[in-house]
Amino acid sequence: MLDFIYKRRSIRKYTGQPVEDEKITEMLKAAMAAPSANNKQPWHFVVIKERETLNKIAEVHPYAKMAANAPLAIVVCGDADNYYMWQDCAASTQNLLLAAANIGLGAVWCGLREEREINMRKLLGVPDNIRTFSLIIIGYPAEEKPSRSQYTEEKVHYGGW
Ligand SMILES: Cc1cc2nc3c(=O)[nH]c(=O)nc-3n(C[C@H](O)[C@H](O)[C@H](O)COP(=O)(O)O)c2cc1C
Repeated sequence: MLDFIYKRRSIRKYTGQPVEDEKITEMLKAAMAAPSANNKQPWHFVVIKERETLNKIAEVHPYAKMAANAPLAIVVCGDADNYYMWQDCAASTQNLLLAAANIGLGAVWCGLREEREINMRKLLGVPDNIRTFSLIIIGYPAEEKPSRSQYTEEKVHYGGW
């Protein structure tokens, strides 16, 4: 019933096919439909299709080497002075990933902390009042992964811990 959620998997191999602008807009619309504290929507999105920049991302982020073979990356950013920026950007990132999986694309969320954030900010010219939250590498999938939940009963605590 909820297969549109379970079919989202981290896809790190892509065909060479570029992602159409309409699909990019669809993903961004989904990202901006996310819940947001006080509906402040502190998010911003940097869309990267430039080969040179994608290659540089692969160079500066040790766990985003797949960017060198991807046609697209989207960096989710947020207003640094918004208290709930991290939560809102996480919700937005997840919406974008779900949308990608459900319009036939493959994507992977790459974390941006510490030197990875510093490198990304420098590369993209992000202003001081904006934090970079997540790097999403996207393309048409060249690998298949099964739909799945990771339901684990021990993680559930009924009526209190
Ligand atoms: C905050 C965060 C950071 C992540 N960073 C990376 C990363 O740098 N490189 C990568 O290949 N995958 C990264 N992942 C993807 C996880 O490895 C992946 O979600 C996890 O193994 C579960 O697999 P699934 O997405 O197919 O369900 C990240 C995921 C999250 C939520």
